[in-house]
Amino acid sequence: MSDPTRLVTSADVDDRAGGDVSISALHELELADGSRVVLLDDRGWGTSGGWCRVSVADVRSTAIMVVGPDEPFGGRSQEEMAAAHWDELARTARSLGVAVDGAGLRQLPHDVALSPRLLARLGAPPSGAGTGAEPSLDTSPPTIGVASPAAAGELLTLQRAAYVSEAQLYDDVRLPALTQTLGELTSELAASTCLAAWSGRRLVGAIRTREVDDVLHVGRLVVAPDLQGLGIGSRLLAAAEAGSPCRLATLFTGSRSEANLRLYRRHGYVEDRREELRPGLEIVHLVKELR
Ligand SMILES: CC(C)(COP(=O)(O)OP(=O)(O)OC[C@H]1O[C@@H](n2cnc3c(N)ncnc32)[C@H](O)[C@@H]1OP(=O)(O)O)[C@@H](O)C(=O)NCCC(=O)NCCS
Repeated sequence: MSDPTRLVTSADVDDRAGGDVSISALHELELADGSRVVLLDDRGWGTSGGWCRVSVADVRSTAIMVVGPDEPFGGRSQEEMAAAHWDELARTARSLGVAVDGAGLRQLPHDVALSPRLLARLGAPPSGAGTGAEPSLDTSPPTIGVASPAAAGELLTLQRAAYVSEAQLYDDVRLPALTQTLGELTSELAASTCLAAWSGRRLVGAIRTREVDDVLHVGRLVVAPDLQGLGIGSRLLAAAEAGSPCRLATLFTGSRSEANLRLYRRHGYVEDRREELRPGLEIVHLVKELR
């Protein structure tokens, strides 16, 4: 993965939260190639008194505060809190394949981006108009981060949409990825790691991994049908590999899935063995030395 270049906190209207004014803050690390990884996705704040009392400057300063270190407690100094905060964020970045330490993160520039929706609520000019330079949340390339089990519903929808082409290829609408229930997927997410790609708030891709005995098992790589062929699948695969300490990675696909086989071979996977699951359905197991 490429080097980190800046921290970006994207502030948006949080319709899920109650209260008068609710704003979410998504904290990401941007890399030299323009891609981003999620450092914190659970921050936000609310106030009463209405949107008219909130300014763009308030949002900028509060956003930086809510994604920053907590107030000191338990006899710890401000500096100790800050060091622990940056080390924790660096650990998250490293788990997503970005080589950085707390000190490195701390010295990066930090920008706050207000979504067009939030700017509209604040009565400020939209992105690019007049004062300019406000990147919208719908940035490209998409952001890659860890998906929690709470994303299961959206992920199931994405998975089903993506696997329709495979169902057509094998003339089988009962492929496991299509028949998996929400309950099964939720349990699976609790037992495995799921990296996801978001374009703004839309889930556009995902990949699941499990580490067993120094082997990274990769599965269910999916990209939204309207965004396939744009490199999202490749980014997810590279991020999953980069974030793992395993020596070997393994995955499989159907022998008729020529495009998938091309993708995996291009990423350094080589055929290990073939397995006939049932007459007419053969799968190809591939492996790659990661280190
Ligand atoms: C396979 C998949 C995840 C690839 O993601 P992607 O973002 O489209 O892939 P990228 O843009 O990074 O790479 C493009 C390569 O992916 C492969 N690919 C597989 N299916 C593809 C599709 N429907 N459209 C475009 N590329 C596809 C090809 O090798 C392509 O390279 P090519 O242009 O030389 O043919 C995605 O196409 C998908 O969700 N397919 C349906 C579900 C599936 O089969 N998952 C894999 C299970 S093993």
